[in-house]
Amino acid sequence: MVASIIVTDPKILRRIYLDEECFVPKYPKWSEVFVGSGCVMKIADHKSVHRLMAAPISGEALSNYVDYMEKEVVKCLEEWSSMREPIELLNEITSLYFKFIARIFLGTKVSGYSTQQLERLFSDMDLALLSIFLLICLDLLSTQHSRYTTLFFTALKALKEVEEILNKIIEDKRRALERNEGREELCQMEAMIEATDENGAKLLSNRAIIDMLICVFHGGNHTAGHAAMWVLIHISDHPHVFQKAKIINETLRRTTFVSQTFREAKANVNINGYIIRKGWSIPIWHRVVHMDPQIYSDPQKFDPSRWDNYIPKAGAFTPFGMGKLYCPGNELFKIETAILLHHFLLHYK
Ligand code: HEM
Repeated sequence: MVASIIVTDPKILRRIYLDEECFVPKYPKWSEVFVGSGCVMKIADHKSVHRLMAAPISGEALSNYVDYMEKEVVKCLEEWSSMREPIELLNEITSLYFKFIARIFLGTKVSGYSTQQLERLFSDMDLALLSIFLLICLDLLSTQHSRYTTLFFTALKALKEVEEILNKIIEDKRRALERNEGREELCQMEAMIEATDENGAKLLSNRAIIDMLICVFHGGNHTAGHAAMWVLIHISDHPHVFQKAKIINETLRRTTFVSQTFREAKANVNINGYIIRKGWSIPIWHRVVHMDPQIYSDPQKFDPSRWDNYIPKAGAFTPFGMGKLYCPGNELFKIETAILLHHFLLHYK
């Protein structure tokens, strides 16, 4: 039986995230199944892997996609507003954001799959992950055993299909690159295929690229869709707040979308006089920190004005984590959501 130490204090949270010698990422076994069998978190050279995942979706590189995202957002808003029936906003935003990730990472020259098909498969996996997590939290695994088994096998089947589709796309692209059939200017999968180590040897196998892409699609799919949906709901309730960043920050605080992340102690460590033993599991509860009344007064209240001239102390606001796994998609999320908000506020209510 492994002991768990739950972290809810910003100073300790920061220490655990930044002490990468003593604390390493370690997610529950059942969840690792769906992040690809090689799981990128275990690849020794995680820095290079992180860089390849972050490269097209941070800083200057993101500006390459702003026009494309803007066009897609305008098209979607027009479509949604012309529907006669109510739409399911969460599904619509999630599909839109999924399309962005597919465009950025897989490029445009791909055949043999559709974005909708891939999205549906990821949905099956996400739904299973979320449901299994809830069944575990509510201690229902024993009573809901058949439901758990069905979800698990549906997700495994979806994972297998995703792996096959991605493998085929990588193979097609490898062949096209070998034949010098012209590379795509903006396609991160090609950059991953061509990445080399310091000796000039190819850095990544198909397996590693598939795992990275699964990690990116997982990370950027439901979490970002959920967060953006809440941003839209909150902005409708607070139309007088003009600084969109405040609404986004307050939404990320009030509804912490990744409620916890997991680490494991690699050595015995003394924290404030208590020994955390090697092998102990450490869930870090971001939600508890974000709802701590000592840090955020009246924490239940959705109050964008709390961000007026407020810079949180290190560890007190960590919707995207911290340290070596710091979310590479945070800037993409902020830009796509700012574009969506901009066009929504300009023409719709
Ligand atoms: C509101 C939106 C999002 C939230 C709240 C969020 C949250 C997080 C958090 C907390 C982590 C750290 C996990 C840990 O330390 O164990 C993380 C990692 C990650 N996120 Fe996000 N994320 C969001 C959007 C995105 C998007 C849009 C993408 C990609 C397009 C993405 C891709 C990733 C990836 C690939 C990792 C793993 C990084 C690594 O292994 O180095 N996320 N995210």
